[in-house]
Amino acid sequence: MLNRLFAQFSGPRGPLGEIAGLVMAHKNRALNAWIVSVLDAGPEDRVVEIGYGPGLAVEANAARALRGCVAGVDRSEVMWRHARRRNAAAIAAGRADLRVGDATALPFGDAAFTRALAVNSLQFWRPPEAGLRELRRVLAPGGRLILAQRLHKPDAGRFDRSRFGMTDERLAALLALLRGAGFAPAEPVRRAIGGETLAAIVATR
Ligand SMILES: C[S@@+](CC[C@H](N)C(=O)[O-])C[C@H]1O[C@@H](n2cnc3c(N)ncnc32)[C@H](O)[C@@H]1O
Repeated sequence: MLNRLFAQFSGPRGPLGEIAGLVMAHKNRALNAWIVSVLDAGPEDRVVEIGYGPGLAVEANAARALRGCVAGVDRSEVMWRHARRRNAAAIAAGRADLRVGDATALPFGDAAFTRALAVNSLQFWRPPEAGLRELRRVLAPGGRLILAQRLHKPDAGRFDRSRFGMTDERLAALLALLRGAGFAPAEPVRRAIGGETLAAIVATR
């Protein structure tokens, strides 16, 4: 049962997906708040998020980009519904555009955004390179991308999502993928939040 719930985080579906969405909305709040502060969108920014899940970062970015906009794709229809509910006011005001879609084929125009982010999502993209290429296409020159990844904890218990986290080797490989896709990534910043360690990679297009 626990493993079936964990499996949902890659693309929530059905009744168990509804529960996974509620768990993420509760457990991911502090980490999304941190990432939004690192992304540091201003009033005029146009922000795109891949794998927005229940829409916590969408909500926080929409509160910043007051004269800009926030858009995103998630491949889960359940998450689309949760995120739309959470961001109903910004959607009604025409400041948020959330779609069901895949990281590897973004339904947005070239250079449409100034900021981009993905929180614990890239590990599910097939292949991740295609998603990074798409992000480069939709980001304007000089735009900022943040990728946040939970790090692997070797002694993580059964209930700890860190057992599925990214190893240092995979993090180094991700930096190489970013460079290959035309980004200039900085060294990852690490932060312990709620018993997990997160890495944030800030990359410039
Ligand atoms: C672990 S959840 C994280 C959700 C959210 N970012 C958060 O921090 O609460 C991963 C999300 O990425 C989405 N996802 C996975 N693969 C995707 C893909 N190829 N394209 C778009 N979204 C994807 C899933 O549906 C899920 O909502």
